[in-house]
Amino acid sequence: MAKLYLAPMEEVTGYLFRQIIERHFGGVDTYFTPFLSPVSGRSFKTRQGREFDPSHNKGLFVVPQVLTDDADGAADMIRLLADLGYTEVNLNFGCPSGTVVKKRRGSGFLRDPEGMEEFFGKLFAQELPVPVSVKTRLGYADAQAEWPRILDIYNRHPISELIVHARVREDWYGGTPDMDAFAYAYDHCKAPLCFNGDITSVADYEALIGRFPNLNAVMIGRGAVTNPGIFREIREGREMTPAELRDFHDDLYRAYVNLWGVKDTLFKMKEVWGYLGDRFPDAERAKKHIHKCRTEAEYLAAAAELLG
Ligand SMILES: Cc1cc2nc3c(=O)[nH]c(=O)nc-3n(C[C@H](O)[C@H](O)[C@H](O)COP(=O)(O)O)c2cc1C
Repeated sequence: MAKLYLAPMEEVTGYLFRQIIERHFGGVDTYFTPFLSPVSGRSFKTRQGREFDPSHNKGLFVVPQVLTDDADGAADMIRLLADLGYTEVNLNFGCPSGTVVKKRRGSGFLRDPEGMEEFFGKLFAQELPVPVSVKTRLGYADAQAEWPRILDIYNRHPISELIVHARVREDWYGGTPDMDAFAYAYDHCKAPLCFNGDITSVADYEALIGRFPNLNAVMIGRGAVTNPGIFREIREGREMTPAELRDFHDDLYRAYVNLWGVKDTLFKMKEVWGYLGDRFPDAERAKKHIHKCRTEAEYLAAAAELLG
């Protein structure tokens, strides 16, 4: 069986979310953190510090993700994270956000293959304390034209695993993953390979493995917020029950309130409901209540309408 990874999702799959998935359902081999950008010196901003505090990730296999186009900054971060006990670090070559891309980071780096080559040459010329994996898209605008060259760069460096979100930057999150371009990676990638993109059910997982039986891993993001029990279901065939979803939700809500207070929690829960709401296609009214609520009482009443 392929390994199962929870995708990094900024503002959604932070450490509390990861802990609560693990506690309620499990089935995840590796949890990836949302990206962190190196700051000057060997230190973290407060929020990053919380995310990477080893005590917040205890008992889970967590891989921190770094976003940068600076090889020395990446190497510093990798050393700092290794000192904290992390045994792998992931580099982000996929983020499509305009501000990130403008700085030649995330999927913006994919437009500059020479720059990528230089980055990896400089990074891997240094002695690094832990393996480094990469999460990438298939290119910036046109996978057919760009992907073979990008994959060739990855193949020339000792990347421990390549996680491919099978879209180009200009797709953002729309359309469907480009399975033919992914098949090219399946045939040519030298590192262990992980697929990512639009896996939302056991049937999706099985169809993927049917076509690519030797995949090392499958990463799931939005599908795991819609169905936090998806990893267990893929592994054991046991579906999440409505009562389990309610307990998961209640635990998550309480943990968020304890950390952030009600106002920020409502904001965060609305993000979660942006995906969880897909489970309730016929409950538009209740979902609107969630998105409009301003107080804890309004929120809890709207959530109860959906969760029972
Ligand atoms: C709200 C949101 C935040 C994301 N944040 C990150 C991130 O920090 N790092 C990253 O590599 N990918 C990030 N992604 C991309 C996901 O990890 C994943 O590649 C993408 O959603 C496709 O997988 P899925 O169809 O299983 O969701 C984010 C996606 C979304 C929707």
